[in-house]
Amino acid sequence: MKQIVTPVISLALVAFLATTALSAEGGNPRKGKALFKKSCKECHVKGGAGGEVTPLTKTMEQWDRYFEKLQHNPEGLKGLSEQDLKDIQQFLFDHAADSPQPETCG
Ligand code: HEC
Repeated sequence: MKQIVTPVISLALVAFLATTALSAEGGNPRKGKALFKKSCKECHVKGGAGGEVTPLTKTMEQWDRYFEKLQHNPEGLKGLSEQDLKDIQQFLFDHAADSPQPETCG
């Protein structure tokens, strides 16, 4: 029995690690959603200063790349800690255009 179970567990573990490695590490998507609504939506609604931005604006890979470089004007990121940004990144990533649960956060 042991010989069968062990490879199955390691396979599951590898699959798990492979998926998490893609996303922001240590981000809390539920906090991220609240933070996004509070700190980003004020400028990022249709017709707002920054134009409409929702999780659907980018793909998972594009969000990761966006946050890696993060060249947003400082005005928009005012008062947000590194952890806050991680949470927001996680939320946007989890609901990106090509994610399993795309969401507009309207
Ligand atoms: C004070 C207003 C303001 C706030 C708050 C703000 N932004 Fe922006 N954002 C802008 C403006 C203006 C632009 C476009 C010009 C620029 O990049 O400076 C922009 C551009 C962007 C873009 C690029 C749009 C694209 O299509 O690639 C993204 C993504 C973005 N913001 C995400 C965010 C996120 C996430 C937050 C919350 C952490 C946020 N913004 C908060 C004003 C804001």
